[in-house]
Amino acid sequence: MKVAVFSTKPYDRLFLEEANQDQLELSFFESRLDSLTCMLAQDYPVVCTFVNDRLNANILLRLFDGKTRMLALRCAGFNNVDFYAAKNLGFIVARVPAYSPVSISEYTIGLILALARKICKAYVRTREANFSLDGLLGYNICDRLVGIIGTGKIGFLTAKTLLGFGCSVWAQDVVENPELTKLGVQYVSQNEIFKNCDIISLHCPFTTDTHHLIRRETIEILKNGVMLVNTSRGGLIDTEAVIEGLKSGKIGSLAIDVYEEEANFFFEDYSDRVIQDDALARILNFPNVIVTGHQAFFTEEAMRAIAKQTIDNIIAFRDGQTPPGNMPL
Ligand code: NAI
Repeated sequence: MKVAVFSTKPYDRLFLEEANQDQLELSFFESRLDSLTCMLAQDYPVVCTFVNDRLNANILLRLFDGKTRMLALRCAGFNNVDFYAAKNLGFIVARVPAYSPVSISEYTIGLILALARKICKAYVRTREANFSLDGLLGYNICDRLVGIIGTGKIGFLTAKTLLGFGCSVWAQDVVENPELTKLGVQYVSQNEIFKNCDIISLHCPFTTDTHHLIRRETIEILKNGVMLVNTSRGGLIDTEAVIEGLKSGKIGSLAIDVYEEEANFFFEDYSDRVIQDDALARILNFPNVIVTGHQAFFTEEAMRAIAKQTIDNIIAFRDGQTPPGNMPL
């Protein structure tokens, strides 16, 4: 069966080919799937996509006309898919719901420690033989109150790890996890997290409910100097409002692995170009901000698991079975 793989980087190809073992006919396209590149998928029954590929109604219709019948997402998040259109057209959609949640939670912990102890700033400084400690004063995360919004697979592990660091953990989710309560996590309202927590980490999906969860009104009630971490999806944060919060000092530090407009930049090298996105350019310039390019998932373990389940999903579809990562539409 022919599969058109979009947004392919050399590392995607490596892991997908390893998992495939020549069972499927994979064609790798470096380009992102969009209204121009969707014509490349003509006559491919399966299209395999990543987080920033566009699967809106118009593109889905064109894929359908080109005989595509399955969308194999090689990621957990699915906010880039128009499910209404996919359902109407009768697409099978499968994803990789849990490939290595520990990869993202460990990365989140790394960001929290790096911000609290100014490790990135120190790294840059000592590269120039500046060993002064001025401006590097940090704080312990032990005994701090951390708020976790979204206690699914990743939020759960992050909360559990933070307890191990001696943090107090408050959480908010639409569905509470009794296992976390048993471990000592206290479920509270979102507002209580905003008002009281020293560190807030976002782990809920990006939906209409969570769009701009962090915005001007919520920033106003945050504890002064709060640390904010987002390894979930960029749309959870209103970037302009966060920039104002950083300028006023309300937000003491920020780490983002995702950005609202990341599709235009992330996974590409822009080091010799002028960034035209003023919000991104501004946020990259704060001394108390860490920006990474959607790499929290990027471990050998995660890549291997993503590739395996993606291939398994497509093979099940080819064989007329329900893919293990099937998404009921
Ligand atoms: P999950 O589905 O296991 O957990 C999400 C949790 O958020 C669920 O417990 C759900 O009840 C909760 N939730 C939903 N709506 C909510 C709301 N309005 N308020 C509070 N909680 C709400 O998902 P998982 O695997 O833990 O992933 C979390 C997010 O991390 C995903 O949405 C994905 O976008 C992101 N992610 C980021 C990666 C990266 O490389 N930066 C890699 C993988 C996932």
